[in-house]
Amino acid sequence: MKIETILAHAGLCTDSTTGAVSTPIYQTATFRHPALGVSTGFDYSRTINPTRLALEKVIAELESGDRGFAFASGMAAISAVLMIFKSGDHLIVSDDLYGGTYRIFEKIFRQFGLSATYADTTDLGAVRDAVIPGKTRAIFIETPTNPLMKITDLNEAIALARKNGMLTIVDNTFMTPYLQRPLELGADIVVHSGTKFLGGHNDVLAGAVVTRSAELSDRIGFIQNATGGILGPQDSWLVLRGLKTLALRLEKQQENARTVAQWLEKNDKIKKVYFPGLPDHPGHRVQQKQSSGFGAMLSFRVPDSGWAERIINRVKIITFAESLGGVESLITYPVRQTHGDIPAEMREKIGVTDDLLRLSVGIEHSDDLIRDLEQAMAD
Ligand SMILES: Cc1ncc(COP(=O)(O)O)c(C=O)c1O
Repeated sequence: MKIETILAHAGLCTDSTTGAVSTPIYQTATFRHPALGVSTGFDYSRTINPTRLALEKVIAELESGDRGFAFASGMAAISAVLMIFKSGDHLIVSDDLYGGTYRIFEKIFRQFGLSATYADTTDLGAVRDAVIPGKTRAIFIETPTNPLMKITDLNEAIALARKNGMLTIVDNTFMTPYLQRPLELGADIVVHSGTKFLGGHNDVLAGAVVTRSAELSDRIGFIQNATGGILGPQDSWLVLRGLKTLALRLEKQQENARTVAQWLEKNDKIKKVYFPGLPDHPGHRVQQKQSSGFGAMLSFRVPDSGWAERIINRVKIITFAESLGGVESLITYPVRQTHGDIPAEMREKIGVTDDLLRLSVGIEHSDDLIRDLEQAMAD
């Protein structure tokens, strides 16, 4: 079945007792047992809930995984994945990545003995140099990275990880399985902030993990039930509902993103545009090879922080807010918002500076988005 059909049918007719077309929201904490030692298959909603199960099944199918797991947020999903490691383990992590992921490594998991080296994962040599034999257990990749849109060659990174007995974990939030399926390339675990494109309407927080092997599924499943950061039934339903239109939304969003990126590139006030769909983007060819599109995220550099502030304060159609991936375009100031928890020195090194703005392009008409940016930049 083609992915558009799987998406449109997300949660379709899962309730055989009534024939409900839409998956019902099973707003229940617990389930009656027919008799001692007999279960309907559902015992307690932390362990499994039918609405969440419908979502988890479709996410696994979309990512070509063994199993899917839905969490209360992207960070809850990433936490669950990091819990498969133990004290003394070391991970290699993309140096340009969502600030909250950096924060959880450094402020939470480091105190339990997990360590991380931040490397430019687009440079295989840098990844190779960061491997600590006998200690490095995994490589955690964002591609494209948040916010600089750097592209890691997944085939190469996965081959290197396998050679060194390491797992490959990919944050697929920016691409979604509609555009990129890392497990099909050999990655072991995919994580998502479902708050973004999967939900797609800026109205729900969610996270997901998809595993490649039954062994990893058992470990994540155990952690999900034991630690309990699960997605509730109402929110599971919202993500199921969002998924149905993912293909349509993303096609429109990425077409808009390309139009806006091309316009920004021609504007003399813009110093640089980071969008993998532009032919001169250093990751353009790799992106073409491993994904079926370029996504709807872009960043751009303005002359200075004054210009950044001016644009943020003057946009009318584009909303100044954290987050991304929804139908409404959002503009974000990474240095002060999403990446504020990354130390200034590291931000400076990777280029997340006060002249950088990130744009999540929505489904509005691209003429309106361009006109909005134009008036925000006017003298
Ligand atoms: C790439 C990426 N991964 C993970 C997260 C965390 O997701 P959540 O905000 O749903 O916890 C974010 C949030 O912005 C993100 O951009």
